[in-house]
Amino acid sequence: TPLAAAPVGGPLPPLPSGEHLPALPLLANQAQEAGRFVAALEAAPLQAALWGDGRQTAFWAYNASLPGPLIELWEGDQLEISFSNRLSQPSTIHWHGLPVPAEQDGNPHDPVPPGAQRQYRFTLPAGSAGTYWYHPHPHGHTAEQAFRGLAGALIVRSRNDPLRHLPEQHLLFSDLKLDADGQVAANNMADLHDGREGQYVLINGAWQPMIPLAQGERQRWRLWNATSSRILKLALPAHEVQLVGTDGGLLAAPQTIDSLLLSPGERAELVVTGRFRDGVPAGLISQPYRRGKMMHAEQQQDEVLAGVMQHGMRPTQALPATLRPIAPLGAPGYRRRIEFSENMADMSAMFLINGRRYDMNRIDGSGKVGRIEEWELVGNAHMDHPFHLHGTQFQVLARTVDGLWEDEPYLAWRDVVNVAAGQSVRIRFVQQLPGLRMFHCHILEHEDQGMMAQIDFL
Ligand code: C2O
Ligand code: CU
Repeated sequence: TPLAAAPVGGPLPPLPSGEHLPALPLLANQAQEAGRFVAALEAAPLQAALWGDGRQTAFWAYNASLPGPLIELWEGDQLEISFSNRLSQPSTIHWHGLPVPAEQDGNPHDPVPPGAQRQYRFTLPAGSAGTYWYHPHPHGHTAEQAFRGLAGALIVRSRNDPLRHLPEQHLLFSDLKLDADGQVAANNMADLHDGREGQYVLINGAWQPMIPLAQGERQRWRLWNATSSRILKLALPAHEVQLVGTDGGLLAAPQTIDSLLLSPGERAELVVTGRFRDGVPAGLISQPYRRGKMMHAEQQQDEVLAGVMQHGMRPTQALPATLRPIAPLGAPGYRRRIEFSENMADMSAMFLINGRRYDMNRIDGSGKVGRIEEWELVGNAHMDHPFHLHGTQFQVLARTVDGLWEDEPYLAWRDVVNVAAGQSVRIRFVQQLPGLRMFHCHILEHEDQGMMAQIDFL
């Protein structure tokens, strides 16, 4: 079922669809000894033949791969990644979600100039197993570098993972917007305002791929929302779906769900059990979700993101009733209120945190390493703004629904939480490492336009 997705106004055919879900290529570890991961990443222009014919589309890619190679690590690993920037603008690698020292975070304060190289070095602490990603983060250029292709998945594994027996699928969602010549389109006014959306939601770089699943089989799916601005409401109407993990790893116990809201920057782990049924679509769909767009149309109907095809029959394995303990963070030693707002009167300074735009020297306060902070995130805005905090994972305590506080139904470690228009969300976290920590809207167009701030942890 091709979507209404042919590039507007152009003579281009829709992208090919229906191929087997491509595996993410693995970034090879060059270290000789266990416990170390040594590799190189290069950001450079890449030409890709999207239609498999003579037409070429220009992208920017890590190690000539779209998306970038998957980095697979173990808790406790020491990383050493050398990054070369072969782009014509400054770049960085931000290790989204990982508790890395501030100077290794690839944040806008440490740009790598065109033609230059740097080393990123950090160690993964115990308990950091989870589903992360990496992407550029130079201020003002993050959105463009990400939508031209620079984003990759990163998995930290634990030696005692209760789900290690399950086969894994990796689904990294990105959003491709082509112009009439088949080139990656520049952002227009509507994209800058609402966040960029394209004609194609790709999974591992492929449009509407097919995922094999046996009747009764349980698979672990790791999902990455690497789109600029789509809040994906994902569902698998035929199958049994349990949420087993969020950004920062496994939940305490599996949660049966009907659909999953995955905001830009966010990740999730699902256990999908094959339950093919006559008359029920077997594929992975995205359902309409209103995020308050003003210039782009909201999605009106279900869209097929991937096909799921029946591939034999398997006995259904038992799923552990508990996955890992998660201790709730206790009473906070410090509280802050963080407000997202939009200044509709000024297109050049529209996206604000606590009433101001980001600049490099703006510091929104200081915090203490090791102290529990509680933040109230306030969406005083017309649009949803997915909040992301650098340097640590947080727990969501409660959110307002129609103005009333509701406790979060289960504990989870996250680094992105959507703050819907008019909504407030309460989170708690601890920064264990000192330094400047950014927080921002993960609609990257909003972040580039200044919906970002930073706190100095001492
Ligand atoms: Cu995924 Cu500050 O970013
Ligand atoms: Cu935003």
